[in-house]
Amino acid sequence: MIDQTALPIKLTFVRYTRPEQVAEAIRSMVVRGAPAIGVAAAMGLALAAVRSRATKLPDFIKDMEASAALLRGTRPTAVNLFWGIDRVMRVAASASTVRGAKDAVSAEVKAMEEEDVAVNRRLGRNGADLIKNGDTVLTQCNAGALATVGYGTALGVVRAAVEQGKLVKVLVPETRPALQGARLTAFELVRDRIACTLISDTAVGYMMSQGRIDCVIVGADRITRDGYVFNKIGTYQEAVLANRHGLPFYPTAPRSTFDLSQTHDRVIIEERGPEEVVEIRGRRVAPRGIPVANPAFDMTPPELVTALITDRGLVHPPLSENIARLIP
Ligand code: MRU
Repeated sequence: MIDQTALPIKLTFVRYTRPEQVAEAIRSMVVRGAPAIGVAAAMGLALAAVRSRATKLPDFIKDMEASAALLRGTRPTAVNLFWGIDRVMRVAASASTVRGAKDAVSAEVKAMEEEDVAVNRRLGRNGADLIKNGDTVLTQCNAGALATVGYGTALGVVRAAVEQGKLVKVLVPETRPALQGARLTAFELVRDRIACTLISDTAVGYMMSQGRIDCVIVGADRITRDGYVFNKIGTYQEAVLANRHGLPFYPTAPRSTFDLSQTHDRVIIEERGPEEVVEIRGRRVAPRGIPVANPAFDMTPPELVTALITDRGLVHPPLSENIARLIP
């Protein structure tokens, strides 16, 4: 996989052979983005399957469960991580021999990899009609090819609109503290020659007030059955500002990002280490000893959402009712 911590300075690929390495890559954000960590965790489990020396199925499942627990403990908010792990564990559990389980797990993980790109392309086409020729789209963080296996969710919609021949410009907030906007979204868009402008996170309200944004399209890490959207920190303030300025706000998500088992009050927002805030790329910018809060995600309530863009079509308000209808 690409080492996303090195981008955009270096494009380097890392290769892992053990599930513990994949878990560490997810924790340290070598790989990040909800769909990408779902598939990466599934691949970590496939490594556990291949490496298991168990000869009896119950022992094999125990080996798999140990790796699944490790991978589950890496990041708490994006539901795709748990979706990916559960899907592989179900396949392993339904096999009748160790050999059969190993083959079935490998085949499933390869299918997940291919599916992810196809799902994003479908999602992109479903959302592309919401973008008009000449629009400027505000996004947040990186919900592009790097956050998925390929093509992207929010940036997938932009890519699909560009493929339709529309002129689209993307406004890219830096997305402190990990700078996924400045480092990753900017990297992807510049590489694909899609028009884009980098702004500081604090410029969003001003740009809206000046009529320099036409709509907001963001990704999602988890959408609960009551229609709350969990996404990278900063998304909620974009939604509030969009509402203030009468701009449409569209979160995008494949089926694997929907958590129909939960309501919003049960979701854990990941709190990351203080070094991400007191330092910028390893350089200290705040005094020693300052207490830090570093929530990595926030929650946007359904009343601020114009529509959800999914691979199964658009979900309009009332979200909780229509999520249940479209995504059984
Ligand atoms: O902490 P990250 O970089 O893993 O968070 C990812 C995001 O929040 C993305 O913006 C995104 O919308 C979800 S991935 C399509």
